[in-house]
Amino acid sequence: MPKQQFGLIGLGVMGQNIVLNVERNGFSVAVYNRTPDTTKEYMASKTAGKNILPAFSMAEFAGALEKPRRIMLLVKAGQPVDATIAQLLPHLDKGDLIIDGGNSYFADTERRAKELAAQGFNYFGMGVSGGEEGALWGPSLMPGGSEAAYKEVEPVMTAIAAKAQEDGAPCVTYIGPGGSGHYVKMIHNGIEYGDMQLIAEAYDLLQHGLDLSASDFHEIFSEWNRGELSSFLIEVTAKVFKKIDEDTGKPLVDVILDKAGQKGTGKWTTQNALDLGAAIPTITAAVDARILSSQKDERVHAAKILSGPSAKFKGEAKQFINAVRDALYASKICSYAQGLSLLKKASDEYKYNLKLGEIAKIWRAGCIIRARLLHDITVAYQRNPDLPNLLLDAEFQKAVTSRQEAWRLAVRTAIELGVPLAAMSASLAYYDAYRSARLPANLIQAQRDYFGAHTFERVDKPGIFHASWE
Ligand code: 6PG
Repeated sequence: MPKQQFGLIGLGVMGQNIVLNVERNGFSVAVYNRTPDTTKEYMASKTAGKNILPAFSMAEFAGALEKPRRIMLLVKAGQPVDATIAQLLPHLDKGDLIIDGGNSYFADTERRAKELAAQGFNYFGMGVSGGEEGALWGPSLMPGGSEAAYKEVEPVMTAIAAKAQEDGAPCVTYIGPGGSGHYVKMIHNGIEYGDMQLIAEAYDLLQHGLDLSASDFHEIFSEWNRGELSSFLIEVTAKVFKKIDEDTGKPLVDVILDKAGQKGTGKWTTQNALDLGAAIPTITAAVDARILSSQKDERVHAAKILSGPSAKFKGEAKQFINAVRDALYASKICSYAQGLSLLKKASDEYKYNLKLGEIAKIWRAGCIIRARLLHDITVAYQRNPDLPNLLLDAEFQKAVTSRQEAWRLAVRTAIELGVPLAAMSASLAYYDAYRSARLPANLIQAQRDYFGAHTFERVDKPGIFHASWE
């Protein structure tokens, strides 16, 4: 009997759909899940007439695969990945390839890759983005590990990946060694957090300022999706505002509790940025905003005690809506500038040799942050592959400076109305700090030297100095 060409462990939503995608693209698949009932149910409901073979033990699974085996894990990040690998290894041969397609922490992937390489196995950490739909019809894939091992699996990955609208290129590329694939996915998610928070702030500001309804927001976001903000997340947002709750007859968004969840990838991005000394204030603000949102009871209590303005926006509504759209776009560019700068820093620090232009390219379709903007970013890196910061690209410089007035109006209005615009104002402050030839850090240095003799440098002569301050 011919052996199956690809194996998948973990029949959750992502796993089930990736398998269908791989099989649709002409590769036979063997599947295994920890709970056999899930496998049976999947086989009965989704796989009729397809070349998908169920296995009910690790031995049976490994025995069903052609060698060198290509096995993808889609199990919960953390300990379940280690446990699955430990169960699988006794049934594998040297040279087999394991691909972790979950949202694993990149340092765990580094560790696992080293441990498995020492035993003669190939290991890949692969970011997979795009949710259920993406998994089935084409996700964006970020594989990291040994380049030679990637060659073995490249035909499957290019076949199943999303294809960019602009040039039909598959949204997958070899990212780099070690944990780089999961690292890049982590940054993707950090940017995703930033995008979502910025959109939520635009909504908050317009709602407070103009008292708009869900159906107004449906119109606004639908219109924004036809312009430079065109993206999956704006499209989703427009659709969200249209959904009516069957129980109450109200827009569903209005009856959803304002407590945001998070699984950790945004937090990891911020933690890692702090470790590397990279400033990503917009993304960090997005993580903070989710944390603050989760303190619902405390906020409800504080709302009764702490006062703020209750004014409405007084100017022309349409103009204000356009200003918020421009503020959102400029803020988004700053957020991407931060995320990409962090990637650049990490590439040097971890020797990942990341190609930022290629990464922007594979984010053009399939993934959650897919957007027209990513096409423009790809072009910017084609102009200059070593671009130190996106804001220094001539086109982005124009895009941001031309929206500056609107951006400042939005942030100023939010302050006047008492609307928390944490991410948008963080983006603006990032822009203002980044374009400042001189910052007040001279004073910080003076203070440090005053109380701790930490010394300082001078603007007028070289050397390290300490003053007697009294
Ligand atoms: C993707 C997403 C996905 C992530 C969710 C939820 O690229 O498909 O990033 O991997 O799990 O977006 O993340 P949070 O629960 O942290 O919001």
